[in-house]
Amino acid sequence: MGLLKLRKVLISDKIANDCLEAFEGKGVEVTYKPGLSKTELINIIPEYNGLIVRSATKVTADVIKAAINLEIIGRAGTGTDNIDHDAASDAGVVVMNTPGGNTNSAAEHTCALILAMCRNLANRHTELMNGEWNRINGVELSGKTIGIIGLGRIGIIVAHRMQAFGMKTVGYDPFVSASSAAEMGVEFLQLEEMWPICDFLTIHVPLLPSTKHMLNSSVFEKCKKGVRIVNCARGGIIDEDALLENLNSGKVACAALDVFEKEPPAADSPLLQHSNLIATPHLGASTAEAQTRVAKEIAEQFLALRDGKSTFGC
Ligand code: NAD
Ligand code: MLT
Repeated sequence: MGLLKLRKVLISDKIANDCLEAFEGKGVEVTYKPGLSKTELINIIPEYNGLIVRSATKVTADVIKAAINLEIIGRAGTGTDNIDHDAASDAGVVVMNTPGGNTNSAAEHTCALILAMCRNLANRHTELMNGEWNRINGVELSGKTIGIIGLGRIGIIVAHRMQAFGMKTVGYDPFVSASSAAEMGVEFLQLEEMWPICDFLTIHVPLLPSTKHMLNSSVFEKCKKGVRIVNCARGGIIDEDALLENLNSGKVACAALDVFEKEPPAADSPLLQHSNLIATPHLGASTAEAQTRVAKEIAEQFLALRDGKSTFGC
C-alpha cells in the first residue's frame, strides 16, 4: 500500500518524453504544460495530485496553498531551491528530486568551462568570426591548484577530471572529513587557507542562506591575483557585483558562469558583457543522457512511492 493516490500529474517545465512514457499504462493522467504563467499555474494546480518541475517553475507558498489536492512535487534535477520546502512541509506535500541523474553532465560542463577559461575561447572565437587572428597566450592547467568548494557528487567528479590534467586539487566541505577527501586525492583545507593559494576556484554547493554570496568582496580580496572562477552550481552563491568589480580590477582574470542570480540575466548586464566572462545559459544538466535519466527517474520515483515500493526524500 503506497502513500499517494497520484491520479493526476502536471508537468510544468520542459522535460524529456521519457517522463511521459514512464507513466503510460500506470493509471496516472499526465498533463504536459511547460511555460505556464504563475496565475495559470495557480488556476489549474488544484486539480493535480503531483507536480513535476525543472528550474523554471517557481513552486512558491501561494502555489502550494492553491494546490489543495497536491501530494507530491518532483524536481527532475538536483537543486530544489525553486520549491518552498517549508510551505510544502506545512501542507504535508512530499518534495523529491533526482540527485545523481545529471551529476556527470554538470561535472563535464564545469570542466568544459574551466578549459574554455584557460584560453578565453569565447573571445577568440568571436574575434576570429570578425576576421581578427589574435594568437593571445592563455594558461595551462597542469601544475596549477584548483580549489573545490563542496565535495559532493559533482565536486568530486570535477576533482578527478582535473587531477587527470595534472592539477593539484584542494577542497572544503563541512560534511566531508580530511581523510575521506584525501582518499579522493583532494587535500582538505579550510576556506581561509584555500583563498590565497588557488589559481582556479570551482563551486559545487547548494544555494542556502549559509552559501548565499559565499564568494564576495572580502573573499576576492584574499584570493590570488589572476584567479579564475567557475560557478556551475547556483546563481547567488557568487556576489555578482563583487565579481564584476574584481574582473574590472584584474584581480579575477576570468570567470565562467552557467548560473545567475536572475535567470536569464539582462543581455546588457555589464557582467555578461565583460570580455573576461564566459557564460552559458544554465546548461550544466542539458545533455540528452542527463535529461533522459532525470525524466525517467522522477516518474519512476513517483510510481514507486504510490505503490509503496520506496521511501522518499530530498
Ligand atoms: P551534493 O549535495 O552532492 O553536494 C553538495 C555539497 O556541498 C555537499 O557535500 C555539502 O556538504 C556541501 N556543502 C554544503 N554547504 C557547504 C558550504 N558552506 N561549504 C562547502 N561545502 C558545502 O550536490 P551536487 O549534486 O554535487 O550539486 C552541487 C550544486 O550543483 C547544487 O547547487 C546543484 O543544484 C547544482 N547543479 C547545477 C546544475 C546545472 O545545470 N548547472 C546541474 C546539477 C546540479
Ligand atoms: C539541477 O539542479 O539539476 C540543475 O539546475 C539542472 C536543471 O536545469 O534542471
